[in-house]
Amino acid sequence: MASLARLAAILLYLLKVQAQQKTFPATPLASKHFSYPSGVPYQADSDTDLIRGPQSGYNQCGPNTEGQDSKCQTSFLNSLDDFCLWAPMNPDSTIADTEGEEVAWCTKPGRGTRVIPAGALQGVQFMKTPDYVQVVGFIDQTLINIQAGDYGGELDPHGADLRGNPLGGLVYSTAFGTSDGNNYTQVTEWHNFMGGNAFCFKACDPAGANAAKFCQHIYDRIGCAYNAPNNAQNGTFESCLGDNQDFPGIYTVNGTVMTYSQPPERFGAISTMPYDPKIPASSSCTTFDSTSIYTALSSATAASSSVSASAKIAFVSGSASSTIATSKATGSRSPSASSTATDTNDAGTLAMSIVATLFGTLFAAVFLS
Ligand SMILES: *[C@@H]1O[C@H](CO)[C@@H](O)[C@H](O)[C@H]1NC(C)=O
Ligand SMILES: *[C@@H]1O[C@H](CO)[C@@H](O)[C@H](O)[C@H]1NC(C)=O
Ligand SMILES: *[C@@H]1O[C@H](CO)[C@@H](O)[C@H](O)[C@H]1NC(C)=O
Repeated sequence: MASLARLAAILLYLLKVQAQQKTFPATPLASKHFSYPSGVPYQADSDTDLIRGPQSGYNQCGPNTEGQDSKCQTSFLNSLDDFCLWAPMNPDSTIADTEGEEVAWCTKPGRGTRVIPAGALQGVQFMKTPDYVQVVGFIDQTLINIQAGDYGGELDPHGADLRGNPLGGLVYSTAFGTSDGNNYTQVTEWHNFMGGNAFCFKACDPAGANAAKFCQHIYDRIGCAYNAPNNAQNGTFESCLGDNQDFPGIYTVNGTVMTYSQPPERFGAISTMPYDPKIPASSSCTTFDSTSIYTALSSATAASSSVSASAKIAFVSGSASSTIATSKATGSRSPSASSTATDTNDAGTLAMSIVATLFGTLFAAVFLS
């Protein structure tokens, strides 16, 4: 009896502790400003008592943190040959399980991060528009620790608790401001979808009036096709100028501007969409051989010879992308079951699994017809 009472007391104590634990930081991540490199703190998120725990890595990165076990959470999106992607620390991880703790994987060493292994990038399109820069591409995601078959999800500087995914993740770009290549602008609005062997990462110019809209973070279930409509092609490495996309979720029907409302996960899979995203015009595309641009990577990437020519990156859940790609190549394939994201404290996960095939079909129809 005595031990039961003690157990009850302990439980009560734990419940109280839990109840007292706060969710939100005093300042949302997207409102924190740090100049690079001198103003970057050890951790952009210094809270230790919030529900999701402390930031898993750090933001002050340099020679001491360089390497494939780096926990650097400071990322860059500068150009076709100089960008980073958010991906897990440990092999065979799903984005859903690790979204709070992704680290920066970059095409260039020298800033204290991990380096994307040679051969991982299979096709990349960099696009600069009046309001943002964006990279979209195809990747062997297992080489950056994402589990094979994971359809992934969205990373962004918000999350339901405003601490970002990853917590404390910072993004900088030299693509804005003066063009000497050395002027790092902090990008406070960005989104990065990872999964389905593809990615899209958009960094919005903070000087633009609509940075938060172009880099909208609330459409986490409809992937690159709707958040970053593009015509990136597997096997092609190109740098382009382009027009702005529409704001994600905003579309026009018969002259009327509409706003898409993404249904909550509890209503199940999204099986239909009321609109097709518009792919903006691009211009001045320059193509490169991947071996000539990703020179820093340890061994040369073989030039891709047989690629699915027109597989646009259209994944809603990542699953669509892989389905599109493979249906192009082999006719059909049922995506393997994915992690069913059950996260409750974040806006950034694609909870896709059962309807993967449906999505694949939908987007194959939309994008390959
Ligand atoms: C860097 O670019 C910003 C605009 O983003 C500009 O205001 C600033 O003067 C530039 N700094 C330098 C040192 O060129
Ligand atoms: C748009 O206009 C066309 C032609 O008038 C009509 O058939 C269609 O139903 C309209 N679509 C919507 C969504 O109102
Ligand atoms: C991209 O092309 C490579 C090389 O052909 C292929 O292995 C990979 O599956 C393709 N990726 C996608 C997502 O289509």
